[in-house]
Amino acid sequence: MLYLLDTANVEQIRKAYESYPIDGVTTNPTIISKEKTEFATLIKEIRGIIGKDGMLHIQTTKIDTAGIIKEAIALRDFVNGNFYIKIPTIEPGIKAMQELKKMGFNITATAIFTQQQALVAAKAGADFVAPYVNRLDNISSDGVGVVADICNLIKIFNFDTKVLAASFKNVEQIHRISLSGTHAVTIDPSLLKTLLYHPLTDMAIIDFSKDWRKRYEKKYILELLENVPPIVD
Ligand code: E4P
Repeated sequence: MLYLLDTANVEQIRKAYESYPIDGVTTNPTIISKEKTEFATLIKEIRGIIGKDGMLHIQTTKIDTAGIIKEAIALRDFVNGNFYIKIPTIEPGIKAMQELKKMGFNITATAIFTQQQALVAAKAGADFVAPYVNRLDNISSDGVGVVADICNLIKIFNFDTKVLAASFKNVEQIHRISLSGTHAVTIDPSLLKTLLYHPLTDMAIIDFSKDWRKRYEKKYILELLENVPPIVD
């Protein structure tokens, strides 16, 4: 499973990269517009944190084929490294995907809400298809079910396309789509912490420390081993 961060907030990206095994960053025009830093500077800063191998998915702001292609070319020259152009799964987008694939672009088909949108995008050459789980759940549809169907269709038809599930609001959604064989998720950094959270884990850590201190007070394992240099903090 690939974990990506669905944010353009440089501090959040930096912090998450310090502790978690992250594979890249996804943005969209809404996410970018939340940041005060100007677009070009922001992208350079994000690239600086994630390195040239980190996946950086940036969405086109155009919705006509020629405009999408022009933006993709300009962005690829500017963004460098492991770059994916995110393209909405609409008719001009599907046309652009096919052209851009021929030109060697990495493509993420986005704003996917149905199984057939994903299938058409996969056929048009998308490397990733990004279904929006929570937005489907919010209209009493079945986000997890749609993602599971997409994973299944990709297997049935033997596409190389990967599923990059997006739009999550809780751990249960992430857990359930993982079971369906989703290849990647993009999530808000706050959800990363929640993936690890369990009160019993916290209680277990507290008990381990208490029991250790009862017996060894402030000494740590390395201080109790012979011929091992002390840890320098
Ligand atoms: C990712 O590709 C999408 O832009 C994003 O995950 C949408 O998430 P939201 O529904 O929380 O806005």
